Amino acid sequence: MKGRDGLIAAWGGRLPLGDGVEPVSLCEGATPLIQLRNIPAGLKTPVEIHVKYEGLNPTGSFKDRGMTVAVTQAVGEGSRALICASTGNTSASAAAYGARAGLAVFVLIPDGNIALGKLAQAIIEGAVVVQIKGNFDQGMELVKTLARQAPVTLVNSVNPYRLQGQKTAAFEIVEALGDAPDYHCLPVGNAGNISAYWMGYSEAAGQPSGCVEKAKQALGGAYRCDGGSFATGRPRMLGYQAAGAAPIVLGRKVEKPDTVATAIRIGNPQSWEMALMAGEESGGWFDRLTDEEILAAQRMLAEREGIFCEPASAISIAGLLKDIEAGKVKPGSRIVCTLTGHGLKDPDVAIRQAQGEIKTVEPELEAVKAVIGARLG
Ligand code: F0G
Repeated sequence: MKGRDGLIAAWGGRLPLGDGVEPVSLCEGATPLIQLRNIPAGLKTPVEIHVKYEGLNPTGSFKDRGMTVAVTQAVGEGSRALICASTGNTSASAAAYGARAGLAVFVLIPDGNIALGKLAQAIIEGAVVVQIKGNFDQGMELVKTLARQAPVTLVNSVNPYRLQGQKTAAFEIVEALGDAPDYHCLPVGNAGNISAYWMGYSEAAGQPSGCVEKAKQALGGAYRCDGGSFATGRPRMLGYQAAGAAPIVLGRKVEKPDTVATAIRIGNPQSWEMALMAGEESGGWFDRLTDEEILAAQRMLAEREGIFCEPASAISIAGLLKDIEAGKVKPGSRIVCTLTGHGLKDPDVAIRQAQGEIKTVEPELEAVKAVIGARLG
């Protein structure tokens, strides 16, 4: 299968790294595109829905796509240390790729608002974890300053190599479907990923985009996208934010962002401008969903399709279903939703949702049979 050796091996000609570079890779990318069966069957509007299951990347989120490219470049530049601010997944990915490359890794995380699985990853992979008594946006400002003053490479998505890696997900989708989908739905936090997808779809279709221009400006002569176009169109990009952390929807910064989807608990996205370009150029839109809607979608995906993603990822399904219901999505469309992170990242939220459903009984046949009877009737 193409991409089995990691995405630099698969897509190197479209990435800003020199020929013959030794990739820092954990065989990321080439994630499954799974067509949903049961959820679309229950809708009044006929649509085809696929999910790009990014939770199957090596550290359990899409961040690995950007990290392999950013860390490979950092090593090429002679860097000895990485730094990032993170709501959890970036820190887990930076810790892993940093360990692989033998670099020191420093991660700033918001105190008390990071999912347990992500914290476990950063710790076991040897990162220096700094909890700040503040939120992600404050951490982001700190690391941007630190990266200018100390010998550390910033690996948040303001590092242009990150988005270059992340755009490869769009390439994989075009390859899998034979062309671009009609709509692409994504959670939006720091807003890098929606910008990266739009870049990828634009390059695949050989069509201009402000996001590609931004990347060219940031990367200068290193920018590269060889091999021509292999898609005829581009999707409308639909970006969803949590109601308590929806700066792009509101058109203003949110000072105290809050949501159960801690991954996207962000009030001042770094790639705000590019995300707006992606929305406008594609004819897409942004919307916000409540925590209840996010959790309902997470449960629905798990119960009806057997797919477990973290809360932030489920917002893409929650938003899509709401927009289908509202008649905003054309019948007969082919849609892709990115499930950005694995459900196991955040076991607390999943278990909290299931609490009432765990039955405790005596270790006796009749007691267990009663439970089975109650379920099967
Ligand atoms: N989904 C998950 C699971 C994430 O971890 C993130 C971002 C997003 C969606 C949003 O993507 O920021 O590109 O718009 N997580 C970052 C982190 C902020 O630190 O792990 P975005």
